[in-house]
Amino acid sequence: MSSIEKRNIGEFEPKILALVCTYCTYTAADMAGSARIQYPSTVRIVKYLCTGKVDVLHILKAFEAGADAVFVSGCEPGDCHFLEGNLRATERVEYTKGLLDEIGLGGRRLEMYYIGASDAQLFAEAVKEMTARAIELGPNPLRGKAEMKDTAEMVAA
Ligand code: FES
Repeated sequence: MSSIEKRNIGEFEPKILALVCTYCTYTAADMAGSARIQYPSTVRIVKYLCTGKVDVLHILKAFEAGADAVFVSGCEPGDCHFLEGNLRATERVEYTKGLLDEIGLGGRRLEMYYIGASDAQLFAEAVKEMTARAIELGPNPLRGKAEMKDTAEMVAA
């Protein structure tokens, strides 16, 4: 049993939301499952055509709905199918980190990754890293007010 799994027992189990590009990270996540690569069951995935479609409001709604950490993951720089969608996502993530710092939730609850379609192991590492970070930071203070809903419903709302 990994240290993350041990820490989940007896402590809170974080809820991590991954907002991912269908061309790369979603494929990597799918491959991680097929290859039976172990990672915490803390993550829920929302698939986008491109991370360029991830809006600041989607991220903020995820935290409002009780997510303990959120990560956005797109194609590697230079590989985005829509040229610069991942770079725009990076800018939005950086901007949103600043907002999270300002409102006291903390920008470390949010991260941007670039995970190519064949990087299943990297996807697993990202989930582990964000789970460990959420455990370190503790539960989202908004969590008691609104439990994390169904992820698709949450982002669509
Ligand atoms: Fe993957 Fe744009 S198509 S991030």
